[in-house]
Amino acid sequence: MSKYWSPIVSTLKPYVAGEQPRIANLVKLNTNENPYGPSPKALEAIKRASDDGLRLYPDPVALDLRRAIAAHHDVDADEVFVGNGSDEVLAHTFMGLLNHDAPLLYPDITYSFYPVYSLLYGIESQQVPLAEDFGIRLSDYDRPCGGIILPNPNAPTGIGLRLADIEALVAAHPEQPVVIDEAYVDFGGESAIPLTRKYPNLLVVQTFSKSRSLAGMRVGFAIGQRPLIDALERVKDSFNSYPLDKLAQVASRAAIEDVDWFETCRERIIASRTRVVSGLEQRGFRVLPSLANFVFASHPDFAGADLAAKLRERAVLVRHFAKPRIDPFLRISIGTEEECDRLIGALDDILASR
Ligand SMILES: Cc1ncc(COP(=O)(O)O)c(C=O)c1O
Repeated sequence: MSKYWSPIVSTLKPYVAGEQPRIANLVKLNTNENPYGPSPKALEAIKRASDDGLRLYPDPVALDLRRAIAAHHDVDADEVFVGNGSDEVLAHTFMGLLNHDAPLLYPDITYSFYPVYSLLYGIESQQVPLAEDFGIRLSDYDRPCGGIILPNPNAPTGIGLRLADIEALVAAHPEQPVVIDEAYVDFGGESAIPLTRKYPNLLVVQTFSKSRSLAGMRVGFAIGQRPLIDALERVKDSFNSYPLDKLAQVASRAAIEDVDWFETCRERIIASRTRVVSGLEQRGFRVLPSLANFVFASHPDFAGADLAAKLRERAVLVRHFAKPRIDPFLRISIGTEEECDRLIGALDDILASR
């Protein structure tokens, strides 16, 4: 707190990112990064673009990248908005599309940046409780509102919604924007992007950080009909005209065009997830059904924080949220096959010392 602060600053509750510690031989399963590297073609593109041309500003509208995303998802480049990570795309979405007189709806257990943006932009919001089984019950969203935002699959539960249910939600709210945050959709979910053609109120947000293994480049995008994208562009150009640097633009373009690499990595992650789930269940864990690159699991004999601390002592980092209802759970990212084995080995050690 300082007398120099604008008054709003002391009211903010900033997001707390997962740790990025420097511990030797660490198994880092706390921030849902992809354990496999980016497409070699993306790395090659970064090297090629690392030249004297960096003295110039990048393309402010990232046209080549937007065209590549549009071609991949079979939409028009004008229907694609890109930003500095999907966090920035989401921030502009909260400001440009989700700030209305009626409250914004999102789940009570969800991506913890949503309440942060709501507070930053003064958006009145209602948190809709998840059902007993931690799923999103869409009938609970059948109430007056100014907009809806949901991740599919949800984070940190990993539980997915069926596309038909998303469509019913979007169709039931023609007067409000409905935003589907698909950060993890490539690990088994079904994208709502094809529905954007039919529904003018639907915006779908995705990221290059997870399935495309480019968290370090910070690239995310949104797809929707032109008036929605126009709102995001107006906010962006009132904030930062060049959010994506040149290297991020060429790397993410090469990554989205390298379908083989993408398919191979995500299949490996999905196969490892199946192995981790059965390993955890065999050891007495409750594991929520995950369609993401992480699982959300609790053990009857341990408090979540305690188990996270014991894993940390064994150089395995997972994420714990000290929040009502999910306090017993750990969110465990799916690592390489070897990292998953080390996780299970550390758990065996902990369980044996009970
Ligand atoms: C549900 C969800 N949405 C969006 C993001 C933001 O991803 P990024 O800003 O790296 O694109 C995350 C990151 O963990 C997430 O979990």
